Amino acid sequence: MSAPSQPASSMKALILAGGKGTRLRPLTYAMAKQLVPVANKPILHYAMDGLYQAGIRDFGVIISPETGKDIEESLTGWLKPDTRITYILQDEPAGLAHAVKIAQPYLGHDDFIMYLGDNLINADLGSHIADFKQAGYHASILLKQVPNPSAFGVAELDAGGQVLRLVEKPKVPKSDLALVGVYLFTASIFEAIAKIQPSWRGELEITDAIQQLIDDQRTVHSRVHAGWWLDTGKKDDLLAANTVVLGEYAQAVIHGSADADCQFSGAVQVAAGAVLKNVRVTGPAIIGEGCTLENVTIGPFTSVGAGCRLMDCHLENSVVLEECVIEGIPGKIEQSLLGKGCRITKSSHRQQSHKYMLADHSEVEVF
Ligand code: TTP
Repeated sequence: MSAPSQPASSMKALILAGGKGTRLRPLTYAMAKQLVPVANKPILHYAMDGLYQAGIRDFGVIISPETGKDIEESLTGWLKPDTRITYILQDEPAGLAHAVKIAQPYLGHDDFIMYLGDNLINADLGSHIADFKQAGYHASILLKQVPNPSAFGVAELDAGGQVLRLVEKPKVPKSDLALVGVYLFTASIFEAIAKIQPSWRGELEITDAIQQLIDDQRTVHSRVHAGWWLDTGKKDDLLAANTVVLGEYAQAVIHGSADADCQFSGAVQVAAGAVLKNVRVTGPAIIGEGCTLENVTIGPFTSVGAGCRLMDCHLENSVVLEECVIEGIPGKIEQSLLGKGCRITKSSHRQQSHKYMLADHSEVEVF
C-alpha cells in the first residue's frame, strides 16, 4: 500500500464493509456480503471503482472481525498503484454512525464521502462531490424516489432541496425520497454523533446523526439520484441487482472455446479458459474463467462464477458462485443463488427421492 502519488481529489472515502449480513444467510455464514459477486464481480469492487472514477485515492474501509481478512484480501487484488487503503476494525456492528465515530482518527478534520459497501449505485459521484465542496454544505445526502418509502429512511425537503427532516421507516411517509447509501460529510458529523444515543435496536444510527445536524442548524443538502440504486441485502434484491448490472455491463465477447453446436444471442460474455460444448446462452449472461459447460441452456440474466461444471441442465435468472457443479437436472433452475462449491446432481438410484445436505437457513423449493 503506497501513499497516493497524484490524488485527483483530496477527499477521503469511508466504505462500510463490516456488519453482519443476516438477511443474506446462509451465504453470509461463509463470506462477507460485500464480496458476493454481481455479474461475477464483488459488490464492493463496484463501490471502489465508482469512487476511484470520482477521483478518490485515499480509502478507509470498515471491517468486522469475522470477514475483515477476506475483505482485505479481495481489495488487495483491486488496489491501484496510486491508491491507499486503511482498514478500520469495528468490533461489533454497532451502527453506521458508530462506524463513522471509530473512523475519526483516520478521517481527522477532513471532509469525506461515506459509502455503504453493499450498495450498487450508478451515480456520478464526481459531480456530487464537486457541488458539495463548492457550496460548503455541512452534509449532503443522496436520495432516490422509491415506490415503497415506508421501508426506508425518508427525507422531507424544502423547495431548494434542503433537508428538513429524516424519518426512519415512516408509516405515513411525507415524501417518496429514500436515503441511498452515499453521504458527504464535513467533520461536523462527529459533534452530531457525540450527541446521539443508540436507537431501539441498539445501534448508533446515521439518520439520527444527520437529524442532529439539522437540529443544530447545519446545512444538510440533498441530491435526487435519477439512475439505479440497488440494495443487495436479500436474495431477491441480489438477483434483481444481477439482472440490472448484467443488462448494463455484459458484453458480447467469447474468450473461451465454443464448439459449432453452441448458440449465443445478446450480450454473452464467456471468460478465458471456459470450454463450452452444445451450449445455448441467451444474454445478458456471463460465464467465468475455466468453466466447463456441456448440453446446457443458460440465461438470460445469469452469472456463472469461475471453475463451475454444468452438464445437462437449464439455468436462468440466477447467480452461481465459483466451483459449483450442476449435472443432469431435469426442468429449469431459476431465481437461484448458489454459494461457492455447491453441488446439484442427479441421484444414481432409481427411486424417486431427493437428497440434501443444506447449511443453516438454506432454502430449497421443489415442484
Ligand atoms: P446493513 O445492511 O444496514 O446491515 P448488515 O450488513 O448488518 O445486514 P443485515 O441487516 O442483513 O444483518 O449495513 C449496510 C452496510 O454497512 C453494509 O455494507 C454493512 C455495513 N455496516 C458496518 O460496516 N457496520 C455496522 O455497524 C453496520 C450496521 C453496517
